[in-house]
Amino acid sequence: MRILVTGGAGFVGGHLAEAFVADGHDVTALDNLDPYYDLGIKERNREAALAAAEAGEGQYRFVEGSVTDADLLDRLLADVDVVYHQAAQAGVRTSVEEPAKPNEVNVTGTLAVLEAARDAGVDRLVNASSSSVYGKPAYLPYDEDHSTEPVSPYGVSKLAAEHYCRVFYEVYGLPTVSLRYFTVYGPRMRPNMAFTNFVSRCLAGESPVIYGDGSQTRDFTYVTDVVDVNRTLLRADAADGEVLNVGSTTTIDVETLARRIRDAIDPDLELVYDDPREGDAEHTHADVSKADELLGYEPKVTIDEGIDRFVDWYRENESWYDPLVRSS
Ligand SMILES: NC(=O)c1ccc[n+]([C@@H]2O[C@H](COP(=O)([O-])OP(=O)(O)OC[C@H]3O[C@@H](n4cnc5c(N)ncnc54)[C@H](O)[C@@H]3O)[C@@H](O)[C@H]2O)c1
Repeated sequence: MRILVTGGAGFVGGHLAEAFVADGHDVTALDNLDPYYDLGIKERNREAALAAAEAGEGQYRFVEGSVTDADLLDRLLADVDVVYHQAAQAGVRTSVEEPAKPNEVNVTGTLAVLEAARDAGVDRLVNASSSSVYGKPAYLPYDEDHSTEPVSPYGVSKLAAEHYCRVFYEVYGLPTVSLRYFTVYGPRMRPNMAFTNFVSRCLAGESPVIYGDGSQTRDFTYVTDVVDVNRTLLRADAADGEVLNVGSTTTIDVETLARRIRDAIDPDLELVYDDPREGDAEHTHADVSKADELLGYEPKVTIDEGIDRFVDWYRENESWYDPLVRSS
């Protein structure tokens, strides 16, 4: 199939592009290479997809450009079956500092991609949404009927994008699915997240720093589980017009995460605490029964396995990844 991955040089988009090329599909990755974190990581994402193309039947093409460029989108979408829309100004904290930017990329950009996808008549558009749309939990785990009252500009922008996707399905018949990812982690992940900060500091012999008291719980989702559910959506139409949680179903509190990573690397290090960060959710926990029912989604990687895999990967790639994480 012919696939467009927007944000294809980013963390999740890079993994999707690599996996789809390895599966034998022809992938165009569109990304404006926004330097809000180190571009060396995005370079590695592109190299991974290129290597998959060299090793197999699938083709890979990278296009540098913006999802707000309607003419470019029209050209790229002319020959595409399915769009995986991952491009975004990601991250809660950056949105608190500069709220107009997520609005421009995540709302205006998503609308532009939807219009181009509708005009081109693509088979499906899969939109990367976020657990940040929920805000404060009235109950946990969140199911998709939980109220949506985001507590950050980023969450607002992702919720608006989701609504545009639903409306394009209802008004224009464009098949869209929004996947609410719960904190995704894995190789080549974005820096400045608890996972990367803890591993980076421990490997350097420094204490991991916990923002707040560490009691915040997170539903961390390993990137291969995210890739798998996206892969199902290449052909499945059961979730068209829907929003679906994509999480791991288990949670871990941030202090326990820091302790486990510390114990895996250097048990002698002390845990250190700092002030909580603005806009961070207290607790996230996904009920994924809807994704299971409609798509057979069953997350496979447990948090313990994921920590081990990520720490192993980090050690093997420390020479190039750690300096880029620290410089971001
Ligand atoms: N990683 C997570 O934990 C997580 C959780 C929930 C939702 N999401 C969503 O998943 C998607 C992917 O997240 P990620 O972690 O891979 O982030 P990422 O920042 O690594 O990837 C996003 C990519 O979009 C690109 N981009 C930004 N503005 C663009 C524009 N105007 N035009 C084209 N490309 C542009 C960036 O350069 C980047 O490469 C995003 O939509 C994000 O909101 C991610």
